[in-house]
Amino acid sequence: MSILKIARMGHPVLRVQAEAVEDPTEPEIRRLVGDMIETMLDANGRGLAANQVHVPKQVVVYIPPGDEDDDEEEGDGGAHEVAVLINPQLEPLTEELEDGWEGCLSVPDMRGIVPRATRVRLRATGLDGSAIDQELAGFHARVVQHECDHLKGILYPMRMHNLGSLMFESELQHYAAKADDDGKG
Ligand code: NI
Repeated sequence: MSILKIARMGHPVLRVQAEAVEDPTEPEIRRLVGDMIETMLDANGRGLAANQVHVPKQVVVYIPPGDEDDDEEEGDGGAHEVAVLINPQLEPLTEELEDGWEGCLSVPDMRGIVPRATRVRLRATGLDGSAIDQELAGFHARVVQHECDHLKGILYPMRMHNLGSLMFESELQHYAAKADDDGKG
């Protein structure tokens, strides 16, 4: 496995619609997923979409929040298995939006407050070809919405309602007394 270079905001690959994977079980996809997981962990990320490593295919890896994670606590995710989503589709289950801090490995050193649907239905294919069909809520729903946005060429600042909260992490730590640190997607 290898650590891949992560595209940063401004690189055109982050703005393209990723292509569906025809056969999720093919060895090329398994290699890509292995490299993406290694890259995400090396960069201390919470999630990574394939176009962030210059491969415009519908593949996402992320660390699902455990029961102990919520929006008020730090999510180190270290103890959790990495989830793999191929050709993910999201359907909002509510019109209710919730604000939360996000970061992104493609927007290094920055954080911003992003509104996200509080509940979504996720359908995808796993690395073994199995069907995934889950209802997600809260921070788990947020992480998956962030990653699936990447596959549509959308970065989190494009979802922000108030760019006034877009800031450098170091300034956030200085000036925002109570800031989440939920990890970077
Ligand atoms: Ni991201």
